[in-house]
Amino acid sequence: MGQDEHYVDADLYEHEYKRRREDVNYYVAMAAGELAPGAEILDLCCGSGRVTRALLRAGFHVQGLDTSEPMLERARQGVSRLPKRFRDNADLESGDMKDFDFERRFPLIVCAFNSFEHLYSRADIESALACIKRHLEPEGVFAFDVQMPDLAWLQKDPDKKWARTKFKHPVTKQRLAYSTNHVYDPVRQIAFIRLYYEPLEDGPLKETAVVNLSQRKFYPAELAALLHYNGFAVNRHRGDFGGDYLDEFAESQVLLCRHARDSD
Ligand SMILES: C[S@@+](CC[C@H](N)C(=O)[O-])C[C@H]1O[C@@H](n2cnc3c(N)ncnc32)[C@H](O)[C@@H]1O
Repeated sequence: MGQDEHYVDADLYEHEYKRRREDVNYYVAMAAGELAPGAEILDLCCGSGRVTRALLRAGFHVQGLDTSEPMLERARQGVSRLPKRFRDNADLESGDMKDFDFERRFPLIVCAFNSFEHLYSRADIESALACIKRHLEPEGVFAFDVQMPDLAWLQKDPDKKWARTKFKHPVTKQRLAYSTNHVYDPVRQIAFIRLYYEPLEDGPLKETAVVNLSQRKFYPAELAALLHYNGFAVNRHRGDFGGDYLDEFAESQVLLCRHARDSD
């Protein structure tokens, strides 16, 4: 379905997103504001550990969960390079956000960087939300972000290649060109994205590699309704990590949810 190919080359993933710090800083600041020092956080879809490492460095314990073995391996490597007082506070496990059981609750559950967009059907979404709800302390916070659907982008010509950039692979050092296009299914609200990696010189990559990545798009009122009907109160629904309002210019949806009360 396109939820794993983009995560096979975890070194490349880390390289591509190494300058993406706003979300990491936001989740760390939020944890520091909401939690007691040293509290345990569930980092759902922890991936290569971008957010995990920062939460550990801030003194929290982190339980990570992800389906991708290469991403978990990269996350374990990164954690092993942290000072001992931090690295001993991490536990990274293989598992699916739609079906997990840690037999304990957490004061904060984070699902960062569009990972929620890997839930492709209503059944997927409801299974994940049920697991999250079962693992959230009574006063706990579920914090996540997804993209704001960009209607112009979704309708781009799927036969052209977009966003072409050249770069050096961080491990093989081979020069590659990156480009992308996608087909959008407006019924299932899924963008079937193809990432193209084209070799520009001799090296381990001999011909253009096509990596599939599928993202389920969430419209704001629909997302709020899904959360509401699955027992969550949405306390904040903003347009970026700096707290800007969700409006027609927003690129992200940044949400902070708690258990719904009778009054919600
Ligand atoms: C865009 S990455 C985000 C990773 C990390 N949270 C970050 O901020 O860099 C999405 C992650 O979700 C993971 N993933 C996709 N579907 C999943 C599922 N059903 N359960 C758990 N992890 C999943 C992928 O393996 C990948 O590591």
